[in-house]
Amino acid sequence: MADLTKHLLLVEDEGPLREAVAEQLADRGYHVEQAESGEAALARIADFAFDILITDLRLPGIDGSALVQSAVERYPDIIAIVITGFGTVKDAVEVIRRGAWDFVSKPFQIDELLHVLDAALEQRRLKSENAYLRAQLDARYRFEGIVGKSRAMARLFQLLETVAATASTILISGETGTGKEVVARAIHQSSPRSMHRFVALNCSAIPETLLEAELFGHVRGAFTGAVGNRQGRLEQAHKGTLFLDEVGTMSQALQMKLLRVLQEREFERVGDSHTIKVDVRVIAATNSDLGKLVADGQFREDLFYRLNVIPVELPPLRDRKEDIPLLVQHFLEKFNAESDPPRPLAAMLTVSQEAMRRLMSYPWPGNVRQLENAIERATAFTVGRSQIDANDLPPELQHAEQPALSSTVSLPEDGMDLDRFVASIERDLIQRSLERTGGNKGQAAKLLNLKRTTLVEKIKRLERD
Ligand SMILES: Nc1ncnc2c1ncn2[C@@H]1O[C@H](COP(=O)(O)OP(=O)(O)OP(=O)(O)O)[C@@H](O)[C@H]1O
Ligand SMILES: [Mg+2]
Repeated sequence: MADLTKHLLLVEDEGPLREAVAEQLADRGYHVEQAESGEAALARIADFAFDILITDLRLPGIDGSALVQSAVERYPDIIAIVITGFGTVKDAVEVIRRGAWDFVSKPFQIDELLHVLDAALEQRRLKSENAYLRAQLDARYRFEGIVGKSRAMARLFQLLETVAATASTILISGETGTGKEVVARAIHQSSPRSMHRFVALNCSAIPETLLEAELFGHVRGAFTGAVGNRQGRLEQAHKGTLFLDEVGTMSQALQMKLLRVLQEREFERVGDSHTIKVDVRVIAATNSDLGKLVADGQFREDLFYRLNVIPVELPPLRDRKEDIPLLVQHFLEKFNAESDPPRPLAAMLTVSQEAMRRLMSYPWPGNVRQLENAIERATAFTVGRSQIDANDLPPELQHAEQPALSSTVSLPEDGMDLDRFVASIERDLIQRSLERTGGNKGQAAKLLNLKRTTLVEKIKRLERD
């Protein structure tokens, strides 16, 4: 198990003061060692990695300032706090410049010191949490630029690893912005075809009449404007991967031709009778329900089965909220690297808990793409600050946490009894939270963002009223 006790070295030449402070810190759960000189402290620091160093500034021999400097050089993560005798700003600035976290001036109350310590430890916890998230990003929760740690994404990564090695046709479905194209590229990248091309064709972006020539190519004079012979995307993707985006929008005639390609791996250029053989892997994507289009007679059933050899479904972001913090981190890193001049990783923006709550409670109709845009915008709004705040998020997220009721309540002409109205809403929501959690007050309190004791008190009061 990790050692959670904080190891603290207290350096002070005044014996009685040192003993008193050491005792109080020990009472608060710190593991305290004492040193009465800079030399003794330095020797001790040389062979033990303390979490915290608290030192008097004025010491005979090596003084506090030099001690801090050498401690921080050795352990960049150590929290050094200095006790200044006369508390001049100049001294304090100097030690902080040498790497101290903060200072307290004599005489001080122990609470003052404890407060400084708490703040430092909290800051360090956040920093290591960010480092932890980054480390997570580096390993398990990443697959060729796709990020996620939800069950759905873990299953997806597994599936991708197995299908990448094959040449099977894949049908990716998911709402807009769920990552269909990144997944298609990832499959190509991790397949034996990665040395050859990944060719994408968006079937809905090209007029029907041109789509056929785009896909199969054409010969000179095949149609008005066909001045030369031209390779289609299928030929360009030879030995590689062809990504057919929005495949559900293809016309029936083209669907039949595509079926032939999938079955026979052959086709003709428009206006030509010469048959061309190709070796391509096809990955198709759709954001409509192809099964339903088949049922409605708009999409060929045989083609659907040919495409749907391996179905990959990307769930909407609102169904995998646990991916949000990791994605946020991923995009922060991305924009950080793209910023000009680039910021060092250590100076990377963080996200306040309030902003993270908003990000996690918003339903994201535009899925990951919309989240990416929101983070990019917030990054731009956070100039000169180190943390993205709730206010930096796009307007549609500003009221995410307000109850939906607010817009439906209107003030009656002749006024109302505010307290009674609010009490009735409170009663209603408490009742619902208890119903939803089967009467579990702890869970109900969580749903309402209340302390359990507060909820219990409220219930008692409501029962009295
Ligand atoms: N899991 C993910 N990890 C990292 N980035 C992602 C992830 N999913 C999506 N993205 C990013 O979100 C953006 C949208 O992804 P993509 O273009 O693949 O979506 P799509 O499903 O093809 O959307 P559309 O249906 O609108 O074409 C891209 O910038 C992509 O890099
Ligand atoms: Mg797409």
